[in-house]
Amino acid sequence: MFELSEEQRLIKETAKNFADTTLAPVASQIDREEKIPTEVLSKLSELGFWGIMVPEEYGGAGLDTLALALVLEQISCACASTSVTLSVHNSLCCNALTKYGKEAQKKRYMPRLAGGEIIGAYAMTEPEAGSDAASLKTRAQLVGNHYILNGVKSFITSGPTAGLIVVFARTHPDISLRDKGISAFLVEPGFAGVTRGQKEDKMGVRGAPMCEIILEDAYIPKENLLAGENQGFKIAMDTLDCGRIGIAAQSVGIASAALDSAIKYAKERKQFGKTLSEFQSIQWKLAEMATDIEAARLLTYQAAVRRDKNLPYTKEASMAKLFGSTMANKVVKESLQIHGGMGYTKDFPIERFFRDAKITEIYEGTSEVQHIVISRSIISNRCL
Ligand code: CAA
Repeated sequence: MFELSEEQRLIKETAKNFADTTLAPVASQIDREEKIPTEVLSKLSELGFWGIMVPEEYGGAGLDTLALALVLEQISCACASTSVTLSVHNSLCCNALTKYGKEAQKKRYMPRLAGGEIIGAYAMTEPEAGSDAASLKTRAQLVGNHYILNGVKSFITSGPTAGLIVVFARTHPDISLRDKGISAFLVEPGFAGVTRGQKEDKMGVRGAPMCEIILEDAYIPKENLLAGENQGFKIAMDTLDCGRIGIAAQSVGIASAALDSAIKYAKERKQFGKTLSEFQSIQWKLAEMATDIEAARLLTYQAAVRRDKNLPYTKEASMAKLFGSTMANKVVKESLQIHGGMGYTKDFPIERFFRDAKITEIYEGTSEVQHIVISRSIISNRCL
């Protein structure tokens, strides 16, 4: 059995309490208005959820990956838009800075990120470089004390609101070098030449805004290069490994909420003289949903614990994301079916869970990409 420590139980309870009392009541509003209310953002700051793994010396909570997964899981039970905003901020932005940032960069950005004063984003995808991330074309050329960046970054979660974006660009002109010519930069949206594109009109996670980031002769100070030149792709992949644990946790949270809603509805709704929960066909559906959720939860926690123990965890993170996102989509579909016609209306949150779950199979590496990562790892025995 997977035992949480006293501290981990407390973190989980704190996140659950916040999700139940503060977030759940406004979750459909967040979806409808496509905006997380300021009070929710402030409460997240109060709870220290913007800097879960940021070291205490920079204003963070100094907790581990399992703590991050526990928080994201609970928050996802109420609102997937809030959880992905937090996940990208913590696991892709703060994590990249914590692991690869220079002292001056950490001092400059970490306290503001950890306190929720600025939201972090991560910009790798481009119109022609999605799953094949190493084919990205955004160019970075060093001119004096600045890198001049030119290119377009697509589908950037928190792009419209972010105060800091980790941007990947090509510092070596030879595109055939692929991953070997890419660097990572800390980009403030206020830097000259950086503009935000139109907000995407999405199917789900509508409260987590997404847009293009357009770089037209964007001036990025030389000191905002993260780690060294041409080290960006490894930073991107390493950071995404952690992000994938976040999305796996999100999948578990969405599915758990869908199961809870199905159980509640099945116990109330009567047809043919008995409640739905008295039909064996429904009981078995619920049993399978609960079992799948538990399996996904264990894969997620296992990947997180391996990261916390400095063990290789690339394969485990991909397995957790692949299994968790597939499971979440199956579970929300079954839950909606149990709700029948009511599930197809906006009177119940299940239609939102259904729309929100889909993206877990797409962002931070599609399910097809997770198959590539896992199969390469088991065939070549490559441990990352
Ligand atoms: N950690 C560290 N290094 C890694 C690594 C990892 N997990 N994975 C690969 N690398 C290294 C490799 O070792 C290799 O380096 P060496 O040659 O020195 O050994 C180098 O990176 C290139 O690796 P590959 O040959 O495996 O690269 P590839 O071009 O075949 O691509 C891929 C592999 C897994 C398909 C990768 O491109 C990928 O993950 N694609 C998906 C991109 C993605 O997830 N995008 C999501 C965008 S962010 C987002 O979605 C956020 C949001 O909005 C919520």
